[in-house]
Amino acid sequence: MAARGFGLLTRLPMCAQRRSRVQRPSFRLLGCPGTVAEDLQREERLSGSAETGSEDKTPKKRFFEVQKERREQAQRTILIHCPNKFSEKKFLKYLSQHGPINNHFFYESFGLYAVVEFCQKESISSLQNGTRTPSVGMEAAIPFRSRFFNLKLKNSPTQTSEKSCVQSSHQLSPSSKKLFELLCYAESVDDQLNTLLKEFELTEENTRLRYLTCSLIEDIAAAYFPDCIVRPFGSSVNTFGKLGCDLDMFLDLDEIGKRSTHKSAGNFLMEFQVKNVPSERIATQKILSVIGECLDHFGPGCVGVQKILNARCPLVRFSHQPSGFQCDLTTNNRIALKSSELLYIYGALDSRVRALVFSIRCWARAHSLTSSIPGAWITNFSLTMMVIFFLQRRSPPILPTLDLLKTLADAEDKCIIEGNNCTFLRDLNRIKPSGNTETLDLLLKEFFEYFGNFTFNKNSINIRQGREQNKPDSSPLHIQNPFETSLNISKNVSQSQLQKFVELARESAWILQQEDQDRPSSSSNQPWGLATLLLPSVAKSKSPTKNKKEKFSSERIKNLLESIKSNRTENPTDTNGKRTISTQI
Ligand code: GTP
Ligand code: MG
Repeated sequence: MAARGFGLLTRLPMCAQRRSRVQRPSFRLLGCPGTVAEDLQREERLSGSAETGSEDKTPKKRFFEVQKERREQAQRTILIHCPNKFSEKKFLKYLSQHGPINNHFFYESFGLYAVVEFCQKESISSLQNGTRTPSVGMEAAIPFRSRFFNLKLKNSPTQTSEKSCVQSSHQLSPSSKKLFELLCYAESVDDQLNTLLKEFELTEENTRLRYLTCSLIEDIAAAYFPDCIVRPFGSSVNTFGKLGCDLDMFLDLDEIGKRSTHKSAGNFLMEFQVKNVPSERIATQKILSVIGECLDHFGPGCVGVQKILNARCPLVRFSHQPSGFQCDLTTNNRIALKSSELLYIYGALDSRVRALVFSIRCWARAHSLTSSIPGAWITNFSLTMMVIFFLQRRSPPILPTLDLLKTLADAEDKCIIEGNNCTFLRDLNRIKPSGNTETLDLLLKEFFEYFGNFTFNKNSINIRQGREQNKPDSSPLHIQNPFETSLNISKNVSQSQLQKFVELARESAWILQQEDQDRPSSSSNQPWGLATLLLPSVAKSKSPTKNKKEKFSSERIKNLLESIKSNRTENPTDTNGKRTISTQI
């Protein structure tokens, strides 16, 4: 579902179009009446995505509506580890004994997995009742009844003729080589940015898998807190997630209190007996500690559980092996969920926002400005804020300020979290589209120009007001936290990292300006536009002063292009070449 509405296929060259079609996921939407699949089918027929806000006339869904639907869908879904070859038809028939199936897909991640969504939740209990706990020889199995199953073939040796390979959907971003090919053969910089978005954005299946993983973790946490909700937040849901991004989860215990109906008739009021601890933080640490143990000991597929309880925001980090997601589980983190909602709105307001953010994130990763290891680097969250701020500064603005969204808010949008006013208009349909018609080509150039010359030593970035403000402290980079306004979301960034960002932004602006005057023709197979910017050290190799090392970079680019060229000549439709280029994107 994610952003299929850019009309890109019509603009890509034929070879790229063919590739895009090959990559279409293999899942099937059978669409039981009244289910999310039926809604999705209807929306797809309207050729737009309400979830990601392409610029069509389809009403755009609110964040909480998407979350609610996805969660409900995930609760009707199971995960099955499958043998490598088997009959898909028989498999579906076998599962259908427990009730109709709404849709399914397969994917590979150290083995073959099936994600199967039933039309009704009850089908899962029926399946669980007919499922055995394995006997594992000398070892002992912990008899935990989850929604993660193992499919075994009975009589496998005699049925080989019936077995067939199932088609699996990809869960990974494209190789650097493939990306460079696509970018080099795009028709314009706008095309390049949209191509990159389409290649990196979360697929429908990946999104389903993320919600399913949260739902499976919720089942485990529910052993202690039966009414808890595990909600995804961050880039998994804010529409800025790249394939392969981590899965941020929020264990929401607030719903527990809300669900109990207060029977206040008569003179009595009942309260639960509870244990008290000295602070919220200690309560959070204790809860996460227990859930961490639970995941470690009983969570099927949860490995490498680490309890990071002394962090500013305590968390449990683990790998969910079957999905391949690196998960961060927090609790008491409602503001982050609100930030995700705000970014979802900004991402849905104008299709240029996501295209620009994805490219800037990839550019930053390619130049090691961001890292998966915590440190003095700029984070993806900060980069997204910088893009939003830049788009608020255009004339006319492409995005509204947070203060404007607050002014437009209804009574039902009102939201105060821990004393912080987090109110903003949540109905996307009530926000007027911007009259700004600038191209992505221009915006990319201007972004680098703007931040290459930003007075970071004096000014702070503030998306609430959409204008530069005096920095309240001496941190090199100051980006005001939109809801906890006294905090700086980029406090960790060192002066040298900021300097590196500024230099690369200037060089990138310079390259794009040079190309305006002298763009290599597409037949020359030279990297151009975004492709040039994503090559590490290419900025220096193109700049007027060249040294030996820089010449070496050019050599590397030349070799890379040769390899692309020869691969294309040998096999023009093959896009899944095994060789990869050592650029990290
Ligand atoms: P990825 O790099 O793709 O994972 O992007 P992300 O947006 O998911 O970032 P990350 O996993 O680091 O953080 C998850 C979410 O936590 C973000 O989307 C924000 O909502 C929130 N968050 C991250 N860093 C900060 C911060 O410094 N301050 C505040 N207030 N919230 C943060
Ligand atoms: Mg994240």
